[in-house]
Amino acid sequence: MTPILILNGPNLNMLGTREPEVYGATTLPQIEDRCVAFGKSLGLDVTCAQSNSEGALVDMVQAAKGTHALIILNAGAYTHTSVALRDAVSAAAVPMIELHLSNVHAREAFRHHSYLSDVALGVICGFGAKGYDLALEAAANHLAAP
Ligand code: DQA
Repeated sequence: MTPILILNGPNLNMLGTREPEVYGATTLPQIEDRCVAFGKSLGLDVTCAQSNSEGALVDMVQAAKGTHALIILNAGAYTHTSVALRDAVSAAAVPMIELHLSNVHAREAFRHHSYLSDVALGVICGFGAKGYDLALEAAANHLAAP
Protein backbone atom coordinates (compact mmCIF):
# COMPACT_ATOMS: atom_id res chain seq x y z
CA MET A 1 0.00 0.00 0.00
CA THR A 2 1.42 3.38 -1.00
CA PRO A 3 0.85 6.15 1.55
CA ILE A 4 -0.76 9.30 0.22
CA LEU A 5 -2.11 12.40 1.92
CA ILE A 6 -5.40 14.18 1.22
CA LEU A 7 -5.20 17.69 2.56
CA ASN A 8 -8.18 20.04 2.76
CA GLY A 9 -7.88 23.71 3.57
CA PRO A 10 -10.03 26.46 5.06
CA ASN A 11 -13.80 26.13 5.34
CA LEU A 12 -13.83 22.64 3.84
CA ASN A 13 -14.72 21.34 7.31
CA MET A 14 -18.06 23.08 6.64
CA LEU A 15 -18.91 20.93 3.61
CA GLY A 16 -22.48 19.67 3.70
CA THR A 17 -23.86 22.93 5.07
CA ARG A 18 -21.59 25.45 3.31
CA GLU A 19 -23.21 26.80 0.11
CA PRO A 20 -24.50 23.34 -0.90
CA GLU A 21 -25.57 24.69 -4.29
CA VAL A 22 -21.85 25.30 -5.01
CA TYR A 23 -20.08 22.57 -3.03
CA GLY A 24 -22.73 19.83 -2.70
CA ALA A 25 -24.35 18.15 0.29
CA THR A 26 -21.63 15.62 1.13
CA THR A 27 -19.77 16.30 4.37
CA LEU A 28 -15.99 16.18 4.70
CA PRO A 29 -16.07 13.07 6.96
CA GLN A 30 -18.19 11.31 4.32
CA ILE A 31 -15.71 12.28 1.59
CA GLU A 32 -12.76 11.19 3.73
CA ASP A 33 -14.31 7.81 4.60
CA ARG A 34 -14.99 7.16 0.94
CA CYS A 35 -11.45 8.18 -0.02
CA VAL A 36 -9.92 5.77 2.51
CA ALA A 37 -12.06 2.88 1.20
CA PHE A 38 -11.63 3.71 -2.49
CA GLY A 39 -7.92 4.34 -1.96
CA LYS A 40 -7.54 0.91 -0.43
CA SER A 41 -9.09 -0.67 -3.52
CA LEU A 42 -6.42 1.14 -5.58
CA GLY A 43 -3.55 0.08 -3.32
CA LEU A 44 -3.29 3.47 -1.63
CA ASP A 45 -3.03 3.97 2.13
CA VAL A 46 -4.93 7.27 2.42
CA THR A 47 -4.43 9.68 5.33
CA CYS A 48 -6.76 12.69 5.49
CA ALA A 49 -6.27 16.02 7.24
CA GLN A 50 -7.95 19.42 7.26
CA SER A 51 -6.96 22.79 8.65
CA ASN A 52 -8.26 26.32 8.45
CA SER A 53 -4.78 27.64 9.18
CA GLU A 54 -2.27 28.42 6.43
CA GLY A 55 0.72 27.67 8.67
CA ALA A 56 -0.67 24.29 9.70
CA LEU A 57 -1.17 23.38 6.03
CA VAL A 58 2.44 24.43 5.29
CA ASP A 59 3.60 22.23 8.20
CA MET A 60 1.62 19.25 6.89
CA VAL A 61 2.95 19.63 3.34
CA GLN A 62 6.51 19.81 4.70
CA ALA A 63 5.91 16.74 6.88
CA ALA A 64 4.72 14.75 3.86
CA LYS A 65 8.29 14.69 2.52
CA GLY A 66 9.56 11.19 3.09
CA THR A 67 6.30 9.92 4.56
CA HIS A 68 3.81 10.21 1.69
CA ALA A 69 4.26 9.45 -2.00
CA LEU A 70 1.74 12.05 -3.19
CA ILE A 71 -0.54 14.81 -1.90
CA ILE A 72 -4.07 15.58 -3.09
CA LEU A 73 -4.55 19.19 -2.09
CA ASN A 74 -7.75 21.20 -1.95
CA ALA A 75 -6.29 24.39 -0.51
CA GLY A 76 -9.62 26.24 -0.62
CA ALA A 77 -9.15 30.01 -0.73
CA TYR A 78 -5.41 29.70 -0.03
CA THR A 79 -5.15 28.40 -3.61
CA HIS A 80 -5.64 31.98 -4.76
CA THR A 81 -3.54 33.75 -2.13
CA SER A 82 -0.78 31.61 -0.66
CA VAL A 83 2.76 31.84 -1.96
CA ALA A 84 3.77 30.10 1.29
CA LEU A 85 1.75 26.99 0.48
CA ARG A 86 3.08 26.93 -3.07
CA ASP A 87 6.65 27.22 -1.74
CA ALA A 88 5.97 24.36 0.70
CA VAL A 89 4.84 22.14 -2.19
CA SER A 90 7.98 23.00 -4.15
CA ALA A 91 10.22 22.52 -1.10
CA ALA A 92 8.71 19.17 -0.12
CA ALA A 93 9.04 17.96 -3.71
CA VAL A 94 6.18 15.50 -3.15
CA PRO A 95 3.98 15.17 -6.27
CA MET A 96 0.75 17.11 -5.74
CA ILE A 97 -2.66 17.00 -7.43
CA GLU A 98 -4.64 20.23 -7.05
CA LEU A 99 -8.34 19.68 -6.49
CA HIS A 100 -11.45 21.84 -6.28
CA LEU A 101 -15.05 20.73 -5.89
CA SER A 102 -16.34 23.67 -7.89
CA ASN A 103 -15.24 24.80 -11.34
CA VAL A 104 -13.20 27.77 -10.18
CA HIS A 105 -12.85 29.00 -13.77
CA ALA A 106 -16.61 29.45 -14.07
CA ARG A 107 -16.74 31.55 -10.90
CA GLU A 108 -15.48 34.96 -9.75
CA ALA A 109 -12.34 36.29 -11.47
CA PHE A 110 -10.33 36.15 -8.23
CA ARG A 111 -10.70 32.34 -8.27
CA HIS A 112 -9.23 32.01 -11.77
CA HIS A 113 -5.63 32.34 -10.59
CA SER A 114 -3.99 29.56 -8.61
CA TYR A 115 -0.57 29.73 -6.99
CA LEU A 116 -0.55 25.92 -7.04
CA SER A 117 -1.43 24.85 -10.58
CA ASP A 118 2.01 25.21 -12.14
CA VAL A 119 3.63 23.17 -9.35
CA ALA A 120 0.90 20.50 -9.53
CA LEU A 121 0.98 17.24 -11.46
CA GLY A 122 -2.48 18.15 -12.65
CA VAL A 123 -5.68 19.90 -11.63
CA ILE A 124 -9.16 18.46 -11.13
CA CYS A 125 -12.05 20.86 -10.64
CA GLY A 126 -15.77 21.10 -11.14
CA PHE A 127 -16.84 17.54 -10.38
CA GLY A 128 -17.91 17.99 -6.76
CA ALA A 129 -17.06 15.24 -4.28
CA LYS A 130 -16.53 12.83 -7.19
CA GLY A 131 -13.35 14.81 -7.90
CA TYR A 132 -11.66 13.11 -4.94
CA ASP A 133 -12.25 9.69 -6.57
CA LEU A 134 -10.89 11.03 -9.86
CA ALA A 135 -7.82 12.39 -8.05
CA LEU A 136 -7.24 9.03 -6.35
CA GLU A 137 -7.39 7.26 -9.71
CA ALA A 138 -4.96 9.80 -11.16
CA ALA A 139 -2.69 9.32 -8.13
CA ALA A 140 -2.70 5.51 -8.47
CA ASN A 141 -2.03 5.79 -12.17
CA HIS A 142 0.86 8.22 -11.66
CA LEU A 143 2.44 6.16 -8.89
CA ALA A 144 2.18 2.94 -10.92
CA ALA A 145 3.96 4.48 -13.92
CA PRO A 146 7.50 3.22 -14.43
C1 DQA B 1 -12.62 25.46 -3.52
C2 DQA B 1 -12.66 26.68 -4.45
C3 DQA B 1 -12.05 27.88 -3.77
O1 DQA B 1 -12.11 29.01 -4.64
C4 DQA B 1 -12.80 28.22 -2.50
O2 DQA B 1 -12.18 29.31 -1.84
C5 DQA B 1 -12.95 27.05 -1.60
C6 DQA B 1 -13.25 25.75 -2.18
C7 DQA B 1 -13.39 24.25 -4.13
O3 DQA B 1 -13.19 23.15 -3.65
O4 DQA B 1 -14.20 24.43 -5.05
O5 DQA B 1 -12.90 27.18 -0.38
O6 DQA B 1 -11.27 25.06 -3.35
